[in-house]
Amino acid sequence: MSILSIITTPNPILKEISKEVLVVDDNIRKIFDDMLETMKHANGAGLAAVQVGILKRMMIVDISEDIKVPSNNPIFMVNPEIIYMSEEHIVYQEGCLSFPGGFSDISRPLNVKVKYLDYHGNKKEMEATGWLARAIEHEIDHLNGIVMTDYMSKLKAQMLLKKVEKAKKNLV
Ligand code: NI
Repeated sequence: MSILSIITTPNPILKEISKEVLVVDDNIRKIFDDMLETMKHANGAGLAAVQVGILKRMMIVDISEDIKVPSNNPIFMVNPEIIYMSEEHIVYQEGCLSFPGGFSDISRPLNVKVKYLDYHGNKKEMEATGWLARAIEHEIDHLNGIVMTDYMSKLKAQMLLKKVEKAKKNLV
């Protein structure tokens, strides 16, 4: 396993739409293993492949650090598709590994149901709520080239990008 470098804004790849994975094979699992190590190293609760420069529809979520949830973490998802979204939304502060130091209140559906292929290529369906739903929705957005600033007013997005710019300078 190796730690990959995480792409941060501004970078046009973050706006690209990732491509469907045709076969879940060892190559895909190797990418997942590297993504998991990268995500843990960065203390993230989720990571989409595009964030490490790979335009494939694959992502990991693991909110077990934030909330103690039963067993099946981390969750590896290939070709995830939302098949239900609640009309009820909830506003909560979220961040993104591609926007270091930038946090914003974002409104998202409270509950989702998603179908996907797992680490072994098995078909799965999952219902999620709260933090887990939010994490899944955030990562699926990445696969569609959507990032958190797309939910914000122009002014708020500019302010957030300035914070990220400063945070990135301090990291270097
Ligand atoms: Ni993100």
